Amino acid sequence: MVHQKGRIVYYSPNLLAIRGIFLSEKEMHEFSNEMETTPMNATKLLIKEHAIILKVLDSLSSARNHIENGRLPEKFFFEQAVRFSRDFSDTFHHFKEEFLMFGMLAQKKEGDIDLEIGALRYQHEKCRGFIKGIDASLKGYGEKDELSITMLLENLAPYISLLRRHIYQENHLFFPLVEQSLTEMENQYLLEQFAKEEERFGGKTVFVTGKGQADELARMVQEIAGGI
Ligand SMILES: [Fe+2]
Ligand SMILES: [Fe+2]
Repeated sequence: MVHQKGRIVYYSPNLLAIRGIFLSEKEMHEFSNEMETTPMNATKLLIKEHAIILKVLDSLSSARNHIENGRLPEKFFFEQAVRFSRDFSDTFHHFKEEFLMFGMLAQKKEGDIDLEIGALRYQHEKCRGFIKGIDASLKGYGEKDELSITMLLENLAPYISLLRRHIYQENHLFFPLVEQSLTEMENQYLLEQFAKEEERFGGKTVFVTGKGQADELARMVQEIAGGI
């Protein structure tokens, strides 16, 4: 990570990309403090990440409304949303769920909740497919090609709906089951695995970066007044 005044540049070797996010020093300080001081168990940490993802889904939902009403957000907005979805939602958040939490729970439950876990994994996979579809539409969308605008909408609408419901199910149904099932020692082990995963992405800055991206997308969608 390179840290300049008011600017975080987040470098992830795994993603082979450099991300530039603007945050005030106060915002960075407040958010880092919040992540540091809140008592955590593994599910509460994931719920905090859900809040960041839901904020982006709200922005995407507003962008979809703009398109439905004849105002096309700039292509750059969707490029940034695709980047957030791939980096934060899929590569970081869904990886921790699928490969760390689900794996541990499946083993503990000895097959009893394989169907539920399979459904959540399937939803992750579908979300990745919708994001791929959105990404593929963007070149033509930038040229106001009608087929590409249609392709964007036919991936955007189910992406928002499916991921919102997925997050609701995790927060209200699946995570309470996880909390009931894991011992304190298992929860600590899971948190340690999560921390190792965070380190791969630059430590706590991954949250600050994700929140910065979510805030920036919200700001961009609020500014939409006309066409591209
Ligand atoms: Fe999930
Ligand atoms: Fe999740």
